[in-house]
Amino acid sequence: MARWQILQSWLLLISTLPVAWTGHKDVMAMDSSKRLKQCFCDMKSSDYTFPLEKFHDTVSAAKHCNGIMAKKQFQEADELQRSLEYRISQLKDQVDQFESEYDAGFYSIIFLRIIEIELAELNDMLRHLQNLDKSNKHLAVTLTSKVVNLTDEVQELESYDRLEVYKEYEKNKRLKRSLDECEVTLQATAAPTVPPVFGNCPHGQIFFIEGPKTYMLSQFGASYPYGAWGKDPVPAPGKETMHWVMVLVNSNLFGSYFRSYPSYGNLRTGKAYTDVSIASSVTTTNSIMGPCAVLYDDAFYYNCYNVPQVCKYTLSTKQFQTLTLPGAGIKDKFPFCTLSSTISYTDIDLATDENGLWVIYATESNYGNIVLSRLNTTRLDFLETWNTTIYKKSVSNTFMACGVLYATRHINSEYEEIFYMFDTKSGQESRDLNIRFRKLSNIIQQINYNPQDQLLYVFNDAYLVTYKTWFEK
Ligand SMILES: *[C@@H]1O[C@H](CO)[C@@H](O)[C@H](O)[C@H]1NC(C)=O
Ligand SMILES: *[C@@H]1O[C@H](CO)[C@@H](O)[C@H](O)[C@H]1NC(C)=O
Ligand SMILES: *[C@@H]1O[C@H](CO)[C@@H](O)[C@H](O)[C@H]1NC(C)=O
Repeated sequence: MARWQILQSWLLLISTLPVAWTGHKDVMAMDSSKRLKQCFCDMKSSDYTFPLEKFHDTVSAAKHCNGIMAKKQFQEADELQRSLEYRISQLKDQVDQFESEYDAGFYSIIFLRIIEIELAELNDMLRHLQNLDKSNKHLAVTLTSKVVNLTDEVQELESYDRLEVYKEYEKNKRLKRSLDECEVTLQATAAPTVPPVFGNCPHGQIFFIEGPKTYMLSQFGASYPYGAWGKDPVPAPGKETMHWVMVLVNSNLFGSYFRSYPSYGNLRTGKAYTDVSIASSVTTTNSIMGPCAVLYDDAFYYNCYNVPQVCKYTLSTKQFQTLTLPGAGIKDKFPFCTLSSTISYTDIDLATDENGLWVIYATESNYGNIVLSRLNTTRLDFLETWNTTIYKKSVSNTFMACGVLYATRHINSEYEEIFYMFDTKSGQESRDLNIRFRKLSNIIQQINYNPQDQLLYVFNDAYLVTYKTWFEK
């Protein structure tokens, strides 16, 4: 975009500040003979809060045609549109899938949940729009009314029959198109940041992810893009600096061992490692299924082969314990998904934080939404369970930090975004966290938070990456 066009956009913005100018006209009418000369003085002394300072700043910014600023704004609008497009196509795929699997009850309810999720997104966008440019207030008001009406309609939808639900979905699509059109007209305006909802947690809530802090390709190489890695947050004596890496050596789906390194330095050089065998083969009882594994208190936790169970392998005793997750989906029933694909066999995710060990999964009885359980690791049993309202296939990964569940979504091949949180202490959920972080590669197979060093350990298409977490006190 040429510089003069940016300037023009700025001036357009300035000339369409409707509320402030309307108020100002009244003041001018009182003394029409001095109208032009008194213009700015009157504005200052009037009751109307015309943003004079902002006006000057804007004019000045326009004059200097601040390239960086403008670039940022266009990027944001672009990104918003791109991610919208992605989400719509993702939804379309899900709809097609559900149609083919339609069973007259359960999947119709899923449909409805998706529409609800869509509505939540639309509401987010509307809030965004309302803050963007007051000159488009009329458009935003009309759309708000449409969304409110639609929300009412969805809530009143009592019989979940297929055609009715599908009709609502089509209506949403039309509405989204007009939102997209509206977005296009707003490209020159800055988007405000949505204030975060505060969790009820000793550290506060995560507000920023710094990094990548460290990264390296795993010793197994890029041909093993499914796996997990980390550092035990409750290490056994003598294993304080130990790091581990597990890759799914069979079809990116199954594994039978993890590799343990005495220190991060050894991990980097690929020296002095030990392979810890978990199962005698990659497809037998006790084999590792999917990449969502963690090492905690000198025991390895993972999704056991072909069953909806958490497996625990205690390193010191070489003993196994299992815990069945009632109704949990496995083998790509409720996996994490990116925009265009499924992250295979991520149905049952393990996580560690200050409160111990958690398992994140989804059940049909909770409509495919995430269910979260904190486990007693001594006898491997449930301590407490929560039902969330976030559809598991609509997120790309999850982790726990300080009793709060965080979920990410795939923005593009460069960025992932933490957009959702569920606070187990207050039961509060939020879908508009806007915490982006840069990736090394397209797909993230595992994210786990280590409460000891407060780093995220991320397995990103065979890259072993760490990020620093920042909490709002
Ligand atoms: C919303 O519903 C009300 C009452 O049924 C109606 O008057 C209004 O026109 C509707 N708004 C839109 C934008 O459809
Ligand atoms: C976990 O289970 C063990 C063994 O039954 C018990 O002693 C311990 O108190 C439990 N821990 C919690 C936090 O409930
Ligand atoms: C979660 O939802 C399921 C299915 O509706 C229900 O049986 C269970 O009691 C709920 N659990 C909690 C902790 O609310």
